Amino acid sequence: MSEQKSARILIAEDEANLRLVLQKELERLGYRVQVAPDGEAALRKLEESNVDVLLCDINMPRIDGMEVLRRVHERPNPPEVIMLTGQATVETAVEAMKLGAYDYLTKPYHITELDIRVKQAAEKRRLRVDNLRLREQLARQSGLPDIVSVSEAMKEAVRLVERVAPSDASVLITGESGTGKELIAHAIHRLSNRADGSFIDINCAAFQESLLESELFGYEAGAFSGAKGRKLGLIELADGGTLFLDEVTELPAQLQAKLLRAIETRTFFRVGGVRKVEVNVRIVAATNRNLDSVVADGSFRSDLLYRINGFQIELTPLRERSEDIEPLTRYLLNDVGGPNSPELDPAALEALRTYSWPGNVRQLKNCLERAVILSNNGRITVNELPPEVARPTAFIPAAQTPAQPGATPDYSSAANVSPASLRDVERQQILAALEQTGWHRGKTAEILGISSSTLYRRLRDYNLDRRNN
Ligand SMILES: Nc1ncnc2c1ncn2[C@@H]1O[C@H](COP(=O)(O)OP(=O)(O)OP(=O)(O)O)[C@@H](O)[C@H]1O
Ligand SMILES: [Mg+2]
Repeated sequence: MSEQKSARILIAEDEANLRLVLQKELERLGYRVQVAPDGEAALRKLEESNVDVLLCDINMPRIDGMEVLRRVHERPNPPEVIMLTGQATVETAVEAMKLGAYDYLTKPYHITELDIRVKQAAEKRRLRVDNLRLREQLARQSGLPDIVSVSEAMKEAVRLVERVAPSDASVLITGESGTGKELIAHAIHRLSNRADGSFIDINCAAFQESLLESELFGYEAGAFSGAKGRKLGLIELADGGTLFLDEVTELPAQLQAKLLRAIETRTFFRVGGVRKVEVNVRIVAATNRNLDSVVADGSFRSDLLYRINGFQIELTPLRERSEDIEPLTRYLLNDVGGPNSPELDPAALEALRTYSWPGNVRQLKNCLERAVILSNNGRITVNELPPEVARPTAFIPAAQTPAQPGATPDYSSAANVSPASLRDVERQQILAALEQTGWHRGKTAEILGISSSTLYRRLRDYNLDRRNN
């Protein structure tokens, strides 16, 4: 007998014959079945025992099915409910879904059809319970993520997080790559009233449009070839929690429109779906793009921006808050190397403090990870730092010289060059790193100290997709 088959079912049905037939059939399929002849008895049974799926008739004496559904959802950890409707009107079905029913079936239905729905509902509940258990475990293990904030700029950002977190306002976090946007998004969730709900993140730059749509909104069976069953989208999985839309300005135009509608109506359609799904999610979004320019060049809808930008938190680049470098270094060293992490030479610390960190905290973290591996006798000296950090002035880039495969790439700080040539310099740096890693994008992103999604975007921006070269 499979796991799912041993799911616990309660049948609330006033028609004795039908109740008996259903009970026998479902027991034959391996389910553990209880029965109740009316709504009141069903609620009593739910009180007494742990039920995974409730099959609930609508017209029943004493308490009817809709009222049972309503009351079930006032309880913690409710079962999934499948409504069994006699004379299904669309209105009743819609109403039932709104009240949180998992699904509905119109009589007469085939037992195999019922079996499939029950199995799916039981699986959903199992995932929900597992998820709950894991979250409780996590909550016990970890409190808030540590955010190093010594500079006034970072302290102010943390103050804003504390202020906005308990509200349901959408938050847009802006800042250069690696400044800690994702960290801040996590903190907002953890400090919010939704901390018990899930934190679901999606990188809008990391998928193709059609994939992104089904990731975000889910799909119905048969929505496209290969869509065998229903898949819940991330927006649905974030129900009751927070949806973090990373790199939100990369969202394709059509999905911007769909997202805007979902936010405004709190409902959406799965791909290929005809039924609206209701969700209650808080949106936290992040971008490292300039908001004015993405709106001005038409790549991002201003009405969507207005919706998600209920509250903005701007993270300052690391080079403009150098007071944070030393405490961050100590924190990250401990994080990377554990309690026995190597000591930093004063000269090495000075080099870290004066470098301009175009890749911000992520780059600092990568640099320290490398240094810990290279360190000898428990010490990190300037020799264990990447050349551009150890001797920044020796690394004025030759921006126009194409990198030779195998040549030492030039990852000098963007702050050392004139702004006019910044794009060229960046393009050359990326190209050099790509050549060095044999076009391995993960390694390239790591060398450059940027996230892979940022790298993907840059590759598009600079037309560095290999096929185009
Ligand atoms: N103030 C901070 N205190 C401690 N760790 C930090 C801080 N800021 C950033 N970090 C760490 O630096 C790394 C990069 O941060 P994060 O991923 O949040 O940046 P990001 O802004 O989302 O970058 P990207 O735009 O490239 O996605 C993470 O490991 C994060 O934990
Ligand atoms: Mg990020």
